[in-house]
Amino acid sequence: MAYQNITAATEDGVAVVTLNRPDVLNALNQTTMNELVDACEGFDRDEAVRCIVITGAGRAFAAGADIKEMAGASAPQMLAGYRFQQWERIRKITTPIIAAVNGLALGGGCELAMLCDIIVASETAQFGQPEINLGIMPGAGGTQRLTRAIGKYRAMEMVLTGRPIPARQAEAWGLVTKVVPPEVVLDEAKGMAREIAGKAPVAVRLAKESVLKAFDTHLEGGLDFERKCFYLLFATEDRAEGISAFLEKRKAIFKGR
Ligand code: CAA
Repeated sequence: MAYQNITAATEDGVAVVTLNRPDVLNALNQTTMNELVDACEGFDRDEAVRCIVITGAGRAFAAGADIKEMAGASAPQMLAGYRFQQWERIRKITTPIIAAVNGLALGGGCELAMLCDIIVASETAQFGQPEINLGIMPGAGGTQRLTRAIGKYRAMEMVLTGRPIPARQAEAWGLVTKVVPPEVVLDEAKGMAREIAGKAPVAVRLAKESVLKAFDTHLEGGLDFERKCFYLLFATEDRAEGISAFLEKRKAIFKGR
């Protein structure tokens, strides 16, 4: 698929997908979302890709869903458009995804960052759910993932006032993994991605799945799931290699088997 609104490239086991509509602050229209899903699913199927980084071109990561595209839509049209199926497909990607938030992450942009597994943000980035200013509310997970990340009272403030918060505050509130100067945000995310790409791939995928399980199950169910994944990894060649390498004081060479 030739892309119009994103660019995608791979290097050293890491794929970088860049939202590329800087003139409209990378507003997430249907074409952009289709392309993003297509790229992420393609990388998820590619054994050579072990981690995905999503970033934005220009001054925004993404300023949300494309308001112009939504302008004339009725409720039945929104429902029939299945627009959130694309978000569900990103949720099901098993390869770890790092958001390199280079600037504004508003509305769907903040929700896209929260759909990722790790968020590296520029010191100049801002996070917000301004949908309330449009007479609507977050629709791509904002009320759920934000609340889980920062708690009810802060999420209420952000969702009900629509006011964005700077990256340092997002970090203090637990919404962001790490804040770095703007000029190194992508390199930092890529460095973290390369580090993850060097780990045992099956262990990485199961570990991601297990952490995500904590969001939608009770403790006992989550612990049970974790334990089964743990046992399963003892059936992999990479487990034997990882432990032998430790005992032999050498670097492990993982093969994803
Ligand atoms: N959709 C479509 N176009 C957008 C956009 C969006 N979400 N955000 C910005 N743009 C466009 C602007 O219309 C403008 O285009 P033109 O030059 O053609 O007029 C261009 O990007 C640059 O934006 P501004 O001139 O507004 O730049 P600014 O620096 O003055 O303001 C901003 C920046 C505060 C982010 C402002 O653009 C803004 O408020 N954007 C909308 C943010 C928003 O409400 N996002 C939520 C969308 S709804 C949603 O996401 C629902 C969901 O849950 C999935």
